[in-house]
Amino acid sequence: SSAWKLDDHPKLPKGKTIALIVLDGWGESAPDQYNCIHNAPTPAMDSLKNGAPDTWTLIKAHGTAVGLPSEDDMGNSEVGHNALGAGRIYAQGAKLCDIALASGKIFDGEGFKYVSESFEKSTLHFVGLLSDGGVHSRLDQLQLLIKGSAERGAKRIRVHILTDGRDVLDGSSVGFVETLEADLAELRENGVDAQIASGGGRMYVTLDRYENDWEVVKRGWDAQVLGEAPHKFKNAVEAVKTLRKEPGANDQYLPPFVIVDDAGKAVGPIVDGDAVVTFNFRADRMVMHAKALEYEDFDKFDRVRFPKIRYAGMLQYDGELKLPSRYLVSPPEIDRTSGEYLAHNGVRTFACSETVKFGHVTFFWNGNRSGYFNEKLEQYVEIPSDSGISFNVQPKMKALEIGEKARDAILSGKFDQVRVNLPNGDMVGHTGDIEATVVACEAADKAVKMILDAIEQVKGIYVVTADHGNAEDMVKRDKSGKPALDKEGKLQILTSHTLKPVPIAIGGPGLSEGVRFRKDLETPGLANVAATVMNLHGFVAPSDYEPTLIEVVDKN
Ligand code: 3PG
Ligand code: CO
Repeated sequence: SSAWKLDDHPKLPKGKTIALIVLDGWGESAPDQYNCIHNAPTPAMDSLKNGAPDTWTLIKAHGTAVGLPSEDDMGNSEVGHNALGAGRIYAQGAKLCDIALASGKIFDGEGFKYVSESFEKSTLHFVGLLSDGGVHSRLDQLQLLIKGSAERGAKRIRVHILTDGRDVLDGSSVGFVETLEADLAELRENGVDAQIASGGGRMYVTLDRYENDWEVVKRGWDAQVLGEAPHKFKNAVEAVKTLRKEPGANDQYLPPFVIVDDAGKAVGPIVDGDAVVTFNFRADRMVMHAKALEYEDFDKFDRVRFPKIRYAGMLQYDGELKLPSRYLVSPPEIDRTSGEYLAHNGVRTFACSETVKFGHVTFFWNGNRSGYFNEKLEQYVEIPSDSGISFNVQPKMKALEIGEKARDAILSGKFDQVRVNLPNGDMVGHTGDIEATVVACEAADKAVKMILDAIEQVKGIYVVTADHGNAEDMVKRDKSGKPALDKEGKLQILTSHTLKPVPIAIGGPGLSEGVRFRKDLETPGLANVAATVMNLHGFVAPSDYEPTLIEVVDKN
């Protein structure tokens, strides 16, 4: 319809093949021994930067530029890809929950009312990631939820924790559990029966994504619902401290445990009549779990028991599937994304990544929407990720396969936009394994090279950027920027994302003469990329999009 029609760009032609490469977890930082990108051979990325001040620049990928509450919030893939695809900045889940909690409105909403109906007779369970990382959840939000629920009549509360070590330092789980335990102890003094009931590491228990490994979700189900786990403890702090010493264990990969009473009985399995609130606001790692909790028909693993519960998510995690059907806070309504516009304007799009980032370059890119806008114009290809391993074991991941698929799509002439996410810098960066992350960055660079070569052949255009930082800085730093040591004088490896800006480069034989990055934008960020890409496809972006990064200067 005419509402979707984009105006022709006055200076830039249509019909060029555009490769749009998102390097996941690839920020820009000063060279030093903890900058894995600098220390990896990355000739393709280097060639885009060196001597190209008009076609290489840095853009913001964290904080308010991507709709997060504050400038202390590092970027992440959800908000990054949302901004890249939508071309506008939306208040994201973290912020929407902050607002709803601060005003208390969260407790007046339909979702909370629904769960609170079981407070009188049954148990209220909270399940989610326990840290202050602010990527999937935040401890202070959980604290407010618990407090607010107790004030509104919850008499028996059980918390099922997932330890982090990925958005925060490894080992920090102990402190978060201690904080939560202190809160729960205070509640107990006030007559509320409140306890931690189970736990496990986020990468091993519950928080899988994009159906990479259902076993992860099953382990959580067994502990949270069935009250069964290989490890039993009377106290959660002791559980975490002890299990961290298991071979191969750390916060991310802590084995599942349940808390038992003196008789050895699990203190908090989820049973008929109970209420369950999952307090993560971010969607990708909650969707599988939500299916297990909500779907009557379910064949991904044997649930053994399927309790009749009142379940609400912090947010609705999948707007298409309406999953979960009950939630405490409405998710950001991201509409009119660049993908939808381009589909309406006849642009043929190919998108590809491997499983662990596939939804990023499709679902998140398209404003948290699954599926195609126009089946005839789009093709999305998922390359299965290795599952059941930590990615430092296979740091090359599927970079070459993604590169090959993109190359073939470009050479086929069937697509105008070929979009990929290369996960290596991020997925391996999160393991904290510096040597493996160097290998990862090299592999991603090789995939970039493969795609740039294909663009050269078809006389196309490339846009290379990233969603947030990670691999460019692998150590926690003090305020002066020096590596910070812990109490024992040890380096603290940074497994999380960073606050660093990310590079963006444009070029290729199809790029019109005189196209260069503008210098007049005050704080360009990821949300400026969508308008840029629309321009390179020959269109003017909608007027409410963040401004384009490029200008076309007359060379004569
Ligand atoms: C994860 O979910 O793996 C991390 O918390 C964030 O990583 P991502 O934002 O790069 O997916
Ligand atoms: Co990441």
